[in-house]
Amino acid sequence: MIEKENVVEILKEVIYFPKGDNIISLKMVDNLHVKDKNIRFDLIFERKDDPKNDIVVEAARKALADVFGDDVNVDIEIAEQETALSKVKHIIAVVSGKGGVGKSTVAANLAVALSRANQRVGLIDADIYGPSVPMMFGTENERPGCVEHNGKSVILPIEKYGIKLLSIGYFVDANRPLIWRGPMATSALNQLMNDAYWGELDFLVVDMPPGTGDIQLTLAQSFKVSGAVIVTTPQKVAFADVRRAVMMFNDEALQIPMYGLIENMAYFVPSDRPEKKYYIFGKETGQQFADELHLPLLGQIPIEERIAECGDNGTPLALDATSPVTKAFDAVAMTIIGKCGQ
Ligand SMILES: Nc1ncnc2c1ncn2[C@@H]1O[C@H](COP(=O)(O)OP(=O)(O)OP(=O)(O)O)[C@@H](O)[C@H]1O
Ligand SMILES: [Mg+2]
Repeated sequence: MIEKENVVEILKEVIYFPKGDNIISLKMVDNLHVKDKNIRFDLIFERKDDPKNDIVVEAARKALADVFGDDVNVDIEIAEQETALSKVKHIIAVVSGKGGVGKSTVAANLAVALSRANQRVGLIDADIYGPSVPMMFGTENERPGCVEHNGKSVILPIEKYGIKLLSIGYFVDANRPLIWRGPMATSALNQLMNDAYWGELDFLVVDMPPGTGDIQLTLAQSFKVSGAVIVTTPQKVAFADVRRAVMMFNDEALQIPMYGLIENMAYFVPSDRPEKKYYIFGKETGQQFADELHLPLLGQIPIEERIAECGDNGTPLALDATSPVTKAFDAVAMTIIGKCGQ
């Protein structure tokens, strides 16, 4: 007769090497049931798809067979540990090589467009040194609260226009510069992602800082990013930086799928002649960039005074259903929803 207590004792011999302790002490065994010669339990890992999991499963099987014999029936199910992001279906990074091309503007309006398409959306400001989400959503004076979740005190994101928002800007004085070393900035991003109550989301949009530095590496290596959209302006000087960003995210070590390019400030429409489009930097430039990088051109966003105004006064333009800009963002949102099979 096999006793549950014996099974537990045997499983204490199985070590999970990445954490240097046994699977019982690490609370990786759950739902253990023993009946006659049948043993079943869940083994909980941080990531379900980690190939190293199988080694632990086999070690547990062997340890039990060594004691109870080969005719014992062991049924082990791999389960994933619940984290702040377990119920977030897709993390979408909005990136660029160059500063000031409109990442934050695109991230904010894309989040709104996804929400307009009935998706549950969060927006996280990963620009630790220059946060813009609080201002773009008119939430500069709000401070996130705390809630208890799974025995842990976690940050409750701010909610505006149905979108869950978090930014380091909610925790610091907006007028003081953030002089932080790289590791402090990456740990701030980790906290915003992991120590928050995101709940169930279809999309978590990440507004990235410019360039290819520590924050980009942290996001790519520590989180399961579904895909990235690259924002560029149609100027030739922006292209070298775009190429560098694409190369970084395509790198074998990171491998974040690229959904495509968004050409911001693609053309200008004068308010007194709305039928006119002036392609100041060349009409085909965005498409040429996209072709050279073998990426789709997801959308072209015009230069519009109202985009900047709305960004400054906390009402992203994509909230206005009548604006042509909204239609452009709606189209990008639909493409992303399609790519994610939502
Ligand atoms: N299509 C547009 N039409 C008019 N103004 C725009 C447009 N896109 C962005 N802007 C304005 O350009 C400025 C820079 O945009 P934004 O902050 O979105 O860029 P960014 O890439 O996030 O910059 P950073 O690299 O500093 O994070 C903002 O004032 C914004 O309102
Ligand atoms: Mg920005």
